[in-house]
Amino acid sequence: MQSDVVFRTAKGWDTFSDKYARRIQKNTSVFCMTLLNMVHYEDADSILDAGCGAGYLHQHMMNQKKPDAHLYGFDLSSQMVKRAGARMKKSLNKDKIGSLDILTQEEVDSVNFDDEIFKKLNYHLSVGNVEDLSQYQNEMFNIYVCNLVYQIIGDQQKAISEAFRVLKPGGKFGITVWGRRENCAALWFLKELALETGLSPVGMQGGRFVSNPEELIALATNAGFINAVCWLQMAPFDVVSMKNIEEFFNPEIEGILANSTQEQRDTYYKALEKMLNDYKRENKPFPFECYLLVAEKPQ
Ligand SMILES: C[S@@+](CC[C@H](N)C(=O)[O-])C[C@H]1O[C@@H](n2cnc3c(N)ncnc32)[C@H](O)[C@@H]1O
Repeated sequence: MQSDVVFRTAKGWDTFSDKYARRIQKNTSVFCMTLLNMVHYEDADSILDAGCGAGYLHQHMMNQKKPDAHLYGFDLSSQMVKRAGARMKKSLNKDKIGSLDILTQEEVDSVNFDDEIFKKLNYHLSVGNVEDLSQYQNEMFNIYVCNLVYQIIGDQQKAISEAFRVLKPGGKFGITVWGRRENCAALWFLKELALETGLSPVGMQGGRFVSNPEELIALATNAGFINAVCWLQMAPFDVVSMKNIEEFFNPEIEGILANSTQEQRDTYYKALEKMLNDYKRENKPFPFECYLLVAEKPQ
């Protein structure tokens, strides 16, 4: 049975899925690309993308995997997984090729995970929770990747033990989590500047930052993995102008300003602009840093 927290998390990501697919995933998927490269997924027979979101890299993976290899993806948010399915269908439909991330709600809602098209492709989508992979058998996958999910879940050790269980001996495990807080401004500056402006932001997404790779390595070794390798990586967000900021961080900005005075609104926008200009002055991009970890299940 789903807990209240899990239900609310799923609904939150459902609501966010359109914006995530249209605007954000192309930034965050950069980390997943690195994971896939490091775990040699092109040699695998069976790959699991845990918490796959809208499946931004699935077309790429379909092109690079072995022809008979199976690609499995699941996410807590049904809207996210349906978007992954709708993108895949659109990519196969020559009349509609292009703008894969701009999907009508009808295209999303009409996705059926048992569609014959997906079966032909060895593409398997479902709704699921990284903390409970009971829909998968023991030792089913060569590869398990999970990009930017572990920092927002309840029990990381449970999730990683499940990953260990479903991987084959010799299977590869790769995850990405938020890095050091100071290098992830994109995740906290809206709230911080709101508080400084005397506004009270509500409902902003929470998650854990990691400042020490040892805690991630311990997570992997406690679960039984070996040969863990962990490193920091930065992917700049494509936010270089105020227009980008307004696009990227709305409706969040307007939510924060909903009950504000004109003076607070002006002050808040000035603070946003100053933050952007501070990075520009130092010739730096808007930073988003993650820890990446890959490890192996013993033979
Ligand atoms: C930042 S997005 C990353 C999505 C995707 N991995 C990517 O790289 O684009 C976080 C995703 O985690 C999903 N999620 C959150 N909690 C989860 C859980 N317990 N199990 C599975 N997915 C979860 C959300 O629905 C969302 O799609």
